Amino acid sequence: MSTESDSEAFDRLAERIAGRQAVVGVIGLGYVGLPLAVAIARSGYVVVGLDVDPEKPKRIAAGQSYVGAVMSADLERLVAEERLSATTEFAALQRCDLVIVCVPTPLTRHRTPDMSYIEATARTIVEHLRDGQLIVLESTTYPGTTREVVLPILESRGLAAGRHFLLGYSPEREDPGNQSFETASIPKVVSGLDARTSDLVTAFYAAVVREVVPVPSCEVAEAVKITENIFRAVNIALVNELKMIFDAMGLDIWQIIDAAKTKPFGYMPFYPGPGLGGHCIPIDPYYLVWKAREFEVPTRFIELAGEINTHMPFYVVRRLEEALDRTASTALGSSKILLIGLAYKKNVADIRESPSLKLLELLERRGAEVAYHDPHVLTVPVTREHPDLRGRESVPLSAAAVARHDAVLIATDHDAVDYELIAENAQLILDTRNVLGRLGLAGKNVVKA
Ligand SMILES: NC(=O)c1ccc[n+]([C@@H]2O[C@H](COP(=O)([O-])OP(=O)(O)OC[C@H]3O[C@@H](n4cnc5c(N)ncnc54)[C@H](O)[C@@H]3O)[C@@H](O)[C@H]2O)c1
Repeated sequence: MSTESDSEAFDRLAERIAGRQAVVGVIGLGYVGLPLAVAIARSGYVVVGLDVDPEKPKRIAAGQSYVGAVMSADLERLVAEERLSATTEFAALQRCDLVIVCVPTPLTRHRTPDMSYIEATARTIVEHLRDGQLIVLESTTYPGTTREVVLPILESRGLAAGRHFLLGYSPEREDPGNQSFETASIPKVVSGLDARTSDLVTAFYAAVVREVVPVPSCEVAEAVKITENIFRAVNIALVNELKMIFDAMGLDIWQIIDAAKTKPFGYMPFYPGPGLGGHCIPIDPYYLVWKAREFEVPTRFIELAGEINTHMPFYVVRRLEEALDRTASTALGSSKILLIGLAYKKNVADIRESPSLKLLELLERRGAEVAYHDPHVLTVPVTREHPDLRGRESVPLSAAAVARHDAVLIATDHDAVDYELIAENAQLILDTRNVLGRLGLAGKNVVKA
């Protein structure tokens, strides 16, 4: 194939992007992929969603959202207007002008990057790759992944990036449960392997989101995302450590943060909790830690943050044990504990890496009898680290249920929980989120931990 005709194919792609005629494939229709597919369809493109899980295309076809950030009514409308469809048939990639990859990037059992989803997806794409296509990786990963992992697979059948197809990287920024932002209103960092790709990626996302931030290389874009998440992990670790220090001094970290954040410059509030959860903050830092080893540079700060955050559920259990010793006639090993909140953050149903699961495990290992209440997680789904918890059910919250337990442990501060009822009926409350303090509620024995 001559360079001239390749150039024509890319010119056509540019025209199709500008005219919103491009067909966009989104691979991986989870927490990131589904809202993105909806935002792209809303901006006028035809979107084909692709997933290996047959349930997702079925739910999309039925107009039933399974992600908090997407309204079923929006799905229903876009599907009816034939702007959005979904399938498990990857041959549909052939009719896509752009292909966006939003598959998981978890850790292996040894806490190293698990590239298997990205690699499997790249192998699937290469089977259907054709001239003039633009592929964009969105999964969070270490700097170098697009060029060192995805590119060789895509080029393995003889087509070359920059000549036959284009390859870029644009990290996703999501804040599940945050009503102030949606995919289209969050500025998006974009990049490409070369200048032409970068221009096309920029033009495409500029049609979908309010602000686009082009950066000079895919490596920079990959590093931006990792930096943002490490920033959070480190600051949360810092405030968790401060909590333990101030707890020992009898000082209330929440009062301290509330006052500190009145400083109009040089301070940004982060809040302590029972540990880190979710698919990003507990995981992504280890992607950089792993990659840094190749360059023989230490990552002590990042790893220390991980250590402190990982320690938090153990700290909470110790505080609970001490509080029971002080206030109850029961020791932890024979106590009944009601855990409030299984999701890793408020108002979402996501329990991936949730510290609540670790709390449940630690408490039961000590002999405590643990029930949980979570209005967003009525039944525990399969999880990688806690498969044995599958099928456990949320208990209804009632005065009797609260009073029956020796302690209530608040791990997640969902809005849809009756904290007044808890405050009135609990024998002992361990509040890891200061939700009672924020609501101005007092109980018989309340410990912030
Ligand atoms: N959840 C967040 O808040 C968030 C925020 C920013 C970035 N990210 C990143 O985005 C990426 C996706 O995360 P997520 O939370 O959407 O994950 P998810 O588990 O919710 O969704 C991933 C989807 O990919 C599908 N999938 C897996 N392997 C596949 C394959 N080979 N081909 C096609 N589909 C496949 C799964 O069935 C699933 O539907 C990750 O890299 C994550 O780190 C997530």
